Amino acid sequence: MASLFLDSNVSDATRRERLYGGDIFVLSPSAASTRLCNFCRHLIEESFAPHDPLTAQYKVPVDEYVGAAGPLKTRLAHHPEAQRLLRETLAETGCDLGETYYDVPKLRVVTSGEYLSAGVGYPLHVHRDTWYSAPMSQLNWWMPLYPIESESSMAVFSKYWHTAVANDSSKFNYYDWNRERKTATKLTGKDNRFQPHPQEPIEMEPHLRIVCQPGGLIVFSGAQLHATIPNTSGRTRFSIDFRTVHIGDLEAGHVRGWVVRARPPPPERAAMPHRAGSRPPAGHARPGRLRAGRCAARRCPRRRS
Ligand SMILES: [Fe+2]
Repeated sequence: MASLFLDSNVSDATRRERLYGGDIFVLSPSAASTRLCNFCRHLIEESFAPHDPLTAQYKVPVDEYVGAAGPLKTRLAHHPEAQRLLRETLAETGCDLGETYYDVPKLRVVTSGEYLSAGVGYPLHVHRDTWYSAPMSQLNWWMPLYPIESESSMAVFSKYWHTAVANDSSKFNYYDWNRERKTATKLTGKDNRFQPHPQEPIEMEPHLRIVCQPGGLIVFSGAQLHATIPNTSGRTRFSIDFRTVHIGDLEAGHVRGWVVRARPPPPERAAMPHRAGSRPPAGHARPGRLRAGRCAARRCPRRRS
C-alpha cells in the first residue's frame, strides 16, 4: 500500500527513503518553483504568440505547431535560467545540491484529442523509467505549468510497485534514443522510435491521478509504473519533468532490496550529467553509467522489470 504525502516537512533523506519504498510526495507551489513555472510559461507564450498556448492547437496547422513546439522544448531544456531555477527549487525542497544530480527539465506538450500524437507531443504509454536505462534510485519530479484537470494529468499504477511486469527493455538503447530525439521533434503522426513496452496485459484500473496547482510538484520513483492520460480536457497540457539522483544512494547501490550493478562506462555522454552543486565527489560513479532496468536481487519481484 502506497502513501501520498502532501506538503510533508520530512527531511530529504526521509523523503527519498519513502520514495524508494513506493510512496508519492506532492508539494504545493513554493517561491522558487513558482519562479520556475513562470519562466517556463514565459518561454511557451513567447513561442506560441499571438495565440493562447492552451488553445493554439485549434488555430494553427499541425506542422506550424510542431515548428514552434520543437525548438521550444530544446530551448527550455538547455536554458541556463531554467536550470538555475530548477536548482533553486531543489534547494528549497531540502535537496543537498552537493549530492544531487539532475537531468535537464523536459517540456511535455500534450494536446487535446488526436491533434498531435508523436514526436514533441507523444503521450507516454504505460512504463517505468527504469526500462529506459534510468538508475534504480532515480526520482521523477513532475510540474504542471498551467491548471490541469484529471482528464489532462498523469496516472501512477502504484499497485504494480511490488509486481514484476514483463517488458522488452532489453532492446532499448539509450544512445540511439538520444540520437533519435533530434529528429523526433519533426514527427506529427506515427512515432516509430523503439520504446520499451509491457509485454503482458496491464490492468489499467485502479490508477491514481494527481491534480495539483501550477508550480506544484509530484515526486515519485522512476521505478513506478506510470503513463500520460490521453488528454480529453479540450486544452493543451504543458508540464515539465526532471529527474534527480542522489549520488550517495547511487554509490550505495541499494534501494530497499534493489541492487544496481556497475558496468564499464560507455564513451558517450552520461544520461544525467548535471550536478546541482559545484564540488565533484572524488571517484564517484556517474549517473547514467549503471546497469538499470532490472533488479539484481534474487528475490526481488521486479527482477524482470
Ligand atoms: Fe516516465
